[in-house]
Amino acid sequence: MSREFLLAFVLALGLAAPALAQAPDAAQLAAGQALFDQNCSVCHLSTGAGGVHLGSAVSADLRAPGLEQTYKQSDDLLRRAILHARDQDDEPLDMPMPAWAGRLTTAQVDDIIAYLKTLKS
Ligand code: HEC
Repeated sequence: MSREFLLAFVLALGLAAPALAQAPDAAQLAAGQALFDQNCSVCHLSTGAGGVHLGSAVSADLRAPGLEQTYKQSDDLLRRAILHARDQDDEPLDMPMPAWAGRLTTAQVDDIIAYLKTLKS
């Protein structure tokens, strides 16, 4: 391998890395959509719009930009909401919103979060 080629390769990697870190790739979005359809759409609808009455609770609208505004643009808080059913202020979310820890991995939850950001209200 020539030194020029190596240099070009390293440069290209350096240019591509920030873009990769920002934009979820198609595989992540597809995985997130499949997980959402399987686990979440029964209560939040396949559009993510929610509004379904479940006992005394109403399922939340999970679409952008409302959800991210509620959760202060923080993926950490969103992850906690899904894994542990705690709201943005660490109060328990209403039943029957499940805590998904033990059923979904953090990586799977991140795939779902990436997908939710593509659902616009
Ligand atoms: C059995 C019904 C049910 C299922 C299944 C369910 N949810 Fe929920 N979810 C709810 C209800 C009801 C609420 C509203 C709770 C509240 O307002 O305190 C909610 C709230 C939420 C919230 C908080 C939204 C906010 O505005 O505070 C998030 C995030 C969420 N759900 C994500 C998910 C994800 C992701 C899945 C699938 C992995 C899922 N939910 C599956 C019923 C469900």
